[in-house]
Amino acid sequence: MNFRPGLEGITAVQTNLSSVDGENGRLIFRGYHADELARKYTFEEVIYLLWYGELPAQNELKKLKKQLHEARNLPEYIIRIIDELPEDMEMMAVLRTSISSLKANPEWPPTLEEATRITAIIPTILAYRYRSLHHLEFIAPNHQLDHVSNYLYMLTGKIPKDAHIKVLNAYFILTAEHGMNAATFTSRVIASTESDLFSAVCGAIGAMKGPLHGGAPTGVMSMLNEIGTMENTEDWLRKKLNNNEKLMGFGHRVYKTNDPRAEALSDVIESLSANDDWFALARYVENTAIRLLKEYKPGRRLYTNVEFYAAAVFKAIDLPEMLYTPTFTASRTAGWSAHVLEQAENNRIFRPLSEYTGLENMINENTQRG
Ligand code: ACO
Repeated sequence: MNFRPGLEGITAVQTNLSSVDGENGRLIFRGYHADELARKYTFEEVIYLLWYGELPAQNELKKLKKQLHEARNLPEYIIRIIDELPEDMEMMAVLRTSISSLKANPEWPPTLEEATRITAIIPTILAYRYRSLHHLEFIAPNHQLDHVSNYLYMLTGKIPKDAHIKVLNAYFILTAEHGMNAATFTSRVIASTESDLFSAVCGAIGAMKGPLHGGAPTGVMSMLNEIGTMENTEDWLRKKLNNNEKLMGFGHRVYKTNDPRAEALSDVIESLSANDDWFALARYVENTAIRLLKEYKPGRRLYTNVEFYAAAVFKAIDLPEMLYTPTFTASRTAGWSAHVLEQAENNRIFRPLSEYTGLENMINENTQRG
């Protein structure tokens, strides 16, 4: 049997959406370098690129923005569902529950209209829940604002600073799509049964919430908070590595060199956080960790991944920690939707094999005794 734990090295899908080149540290969306897109384009333009295959003309962008605006509002019944959920329920679980209550089109295949609807509504769900937990009045979507700035506006009630919009827009673009990661694979497996787009995103949310995947930025923040000072850094990291624990924000199944998303985010937030003590500590921890990982894990080629700098972006814009993984989900929904639509274009149900490693011949022996 050709068993590869975690499907490592197995090609499960052919896609036109993105190329993740782990040896050379390159990420390409439909022919465009993701870091270029993050520096020069808006999230809406990149959504268009992922869903339609090319960057939009002005009129096409205007139309997509209008469709996203129209789909931002929360239906009353979803508000009632969210209000019924226990206050200590994790935000990712709240999101999963809300998404599962969206009404999908009854016919297969999934549509761009559904992709628009789910991408547009997630920031509103998050902002509604966040403010309601903090006994703050709900801020309705502002249709003068783009997707990313409207999300910050709905959370805070203030028009966000340009510098904050710039870094969060770059983050949304860089994390919108990333090949066959666990959550995207989940979404395609679900779509391959001819299930609907919202079910596929629900499953993907379940995969995303684990600490080895989308939950890592929270782990990065805890690590940096616990380390606290440059003097503590090396001892703290050595203790973890001596216990064979993973350092959050480092390592990647595919990237065996710098994660290009981490590099791009690091550049973008430099301007915002250059004189910030916390950011100086983050950089120091990064450099020390990479040195120690070379010592403790020689030959494993462990570098900073996107989640390390995601934490830095979120810290720089004062995003509350409970929204870290959900915000990743808000951007990645664009990529999941693109994959579900692509899966539907040329569908074949996923059905790999399993290798039986259990006991043999038990039925015969039991039968003889009886
Ligand atoms: N810290 C310390 N050691 C590590 C780390 C790390 N962050 N990552 C990998 N290693 C070590 C492993 O212990 C293992 O060592 P060994 O061969 O001596 O047993 C070796 O490197 C290979 O690691 P695997 O876990 O087999 O690598 P895998 O490809 O399965 O895992 C993963 C990749 C899950 C990302 C892993 O590197 C990890 O857990 N990192 C920390 C969590 C994290 O930052 N996740 C975010 C990833 S990016 C994203 O999902 C958007």
